[in-house]
Amino acid sequence: MSVAGAGRSKASARSSTVTQPVEVVAAQQDSQAEPVLEVRSAGPSDAPGVCDLVSRWANAGRLLPRTLREVESLIECFVVARLGEEVVGCAALIVCGEAMAEIRSVAVDPTRTGHGIGRRMVEFLLDESMRLDLDRVFLLTRNPAFFERCGFRTIDPDDLPDSFVHDFLNIQQRTFTDRYVMTREIGDVYHAG
Ligand SMILES: CC(C)(COP(=O)(O)OP(=O)(O)OC[C@H]1O[C@@H](n2cnc3c(N)ncnc32)[C@H](O)[C@@H]1OP(=O)(O)O)[C@@H](O)C(=O)NCCC(=O)NCCS
Repeated sequence: MSVAGAGRSKASARSSTVTQPVEVVAAQQDSQAEPVLEVRSAGPSDAPGVCDLVSRWANAGRLLPRTLREVESLIECFVVARLGEEVVGCAALIVCGEAMAEIRSVAVDPTRTGHGIGRRMVEFLLDESMRLDLDRVFLLTRNPAFFERCGFRTIDPDDLPDSFVHDFLNIQQRTFTDRYVMTREIGDVYHAG
């Protein structure tokens, strides 16, 4: 089994195949099928799978819902994890403000959590943030433990840059009450371990 994507640049991520074993995911598959977990930038055909995945977690109250139209309009901001034809993970990087971006809609198929798929997608977006020369990324989550494992830290919402607050917090605050605002500086991506 091999994993594609999560390279240091979008160009390399789109085209290269990294031969990194993911045995635990392979073990869940039909051995005849030789499954390949691929992490790559999303394309238009991924939109329905992304929408389904986000909807499953939104129905459980864990993510904000996104309509198919919203996903389609932002599909170039998404990374997807695919096993064959199936979208088993997604996450989006929305650039907003000067050299800043928001990570949102991070979701892994509930039957495939705990195998590193979420981390690989976040790392992909951090690579992309570096390629875009961003300074910081932010996110809003009810699951700080996962993002702490990905190198993010919790901050006070008052410490968010003013230019970011309008787009970032105003909409989401109405939905989540037990939320955490988290950030990661991009310059430390390859030095944090
Ligand atoms: C959160 C989510 C994306 C994690 O995906 P995943 O593929 O299971 O995560 P990974 O296997 O890559 O885990 C990476 C690390 O985070 C840890 N982790 C993952 N989920 C965790 C959780 N809920 N609580 C604590 N730690 C968690 C893992 O143990 C692992 O730790 P390690 O560094 O010791 O190996 C997935 O559970 C999900 O889709 N949840 C619902 C939607 C959601 O909450 N999204 C985040 C808000 S946008």
